[in-house]
Amino acid sequence: MKITVIGCGYVGLVTGACLAELGHTVVCTDNDLSKIETLNRGGIPIYELHLDELVARHRQSGRLSFTGELGEAVRAGDTIFICVGTPPLESGDADLTAINRVAQLIAAEAQGPKLVIEKSTVPAQTGQQLKRALAIYSRNRGLHFDVASNPEFLREGTAVLDFMHPNRIVIGVEDEAAERQLREIYRPLLERQFQCPVHAGQCPREEAPTFVVTSINSAELIKHASNSFLALKISYANLLADLCERMDANVEEVTHAVGLDPRIGVEFLRPGLGFGGFCLPKDIQAFIALGKRAGVDMALLRTAEAINKHRIEHFLEQIRNALWVLKEKPVGVLGLSFKANTDDVRFSPAVELARRLLAEGAELRAYDPQAMEKVAPVLPDLQLAKDEYAAVSAAEALIIATEWPQFKCLDWERIFRSMARPLIFDTRNLLDPDQMATLGFEYYSVGRTRQTRRTSAL
Ligand code: UGA
Repeated sequence: MKITVIGCGYVGLVTGACLAELGHTVVCTDNDLSKIETLNRGGIPIYELHLDELVARHRQSGRLSFTGELGEAVRAGDTIFICVGTPPLESGDADLTAINRVAQLIAAEAQGPKLVIEKSTVPAQTGQQLKRALAIYSRNRGLHFDVASNPEFLREGTAVLDFMHPNRIVIGVEDEAAERQLREIYRPLLERQFQCPVHAGQCPREEAPTFVVTSINSAELIKHASNSFLALKISYANLLADLCERMDANVEEVTHAVGLDPRIGVEFLRPGLGFGGFCLPKDIQAFIALGKRAGVDMALLRTAEAINKHRIEHFLEQIRNALWVLKEKPVGVLGLSFKANTDDVRFSPAVELARRLLAEGAELRAYDPQAMEKVAPVLPDLQLAKDEYAAVSAAEALIIATEWPQFKCLDWERIFRSMARPLIFDTRNLLDPDQMATLGFEYYSVGRTRQTRRTSAL
């Protein structure tokens, strides 16, 4: 099928490249022409595992192209995926300006009927507004547009894998024609008749994804409801961690056993610095704002959000207590991205913690395997180190702020020797407390007291 993708951010780029891998012909566009130039030169503006090989393969095969000409892109596809950003407004509501602008442009540039699909995360009832906007802006041109919602559940860092192996594909449609068109687009995934690039032709055997067909309003709501529930789970784990610290229990033992109940599940119960990134924080805010407008009390989610915001304060307090005076203290920071395996620093708790420490006068030196370029304009006063050891050398404390797996394998004896004071704040429970204690570190982690036995099944 011929598909247009508008917006070449994390979602649009992965969607475009993966749809090309499924056999479709995809034209991607973005109003940021520097992104299009980078892509047309063979570069990738974001770090996402396997994306570079997919993009290269399908630029070569001719099934994936990039253009800065929106009109050309709109005319190329029978189906248009809108993947533009919906950042938060001051009020917490999603800013839908970009969606409205895209509706105007589609209505002005299309020369035939189109199925316009929202992939951007939007509040319930946006589809109805989008349909109205398309009709209004094209009223003198006699064109017909169908609208559908197809929320994405991709996680940054494993987005290609998630696209190729979804557990569900949700579509919100108004008629059978739109459903048929979307089913056709995803047929290779639904029938499992492809070899995904992540497993190099050795995909594990698994059930086909559930194809969930709903109304547009429900599909939009499913997305916000999913991300808000994940946020709830994380805040619950953080609450448990606080309790474990005071009760001399081990949060990993607790969440592990609690999560073994399939009604609860072990995923997303890792306590730490709190949830960040461009999705969970803004989606829970937008969901709260939607509830407020609808007259529904969203206190449950407001509390989850408040717990999350308090995580930074919690660690700051711990760091202040241990370091006594923060001003002019050399502190090493490992990790700046909002989670491992991404270069994304938007709403990163690691960046927020660094910002707060810098404001209190600490002399930070930080290292991140992928996010240094993106953090430089955000925190211009932050000193960046060439590697982990340089970040930590002569420091009076080390903060592990993102759970990059490679930090686990560092030479911790060398780090112990090189630090002015061997003090670690592991805000992600990345390291083994016993190992750190044996090496002689003063070691703080999340909801784990050293004397509690760790579950052998962990
Ligand atoms: C999230 C959802 O997981 C995806 O399903 C969704 O498609 C995506 O948002 C989106 O709306 O586009 P993502 O933002 O990539 O994906 O990140 P997550 O893996 O969900 O992590 C979010 C934050 O929660 C990170 O800061 C992570 O460190 C934190 N987290 C996650 C925890 O603190 N504990 C956990 O147990 C899990």
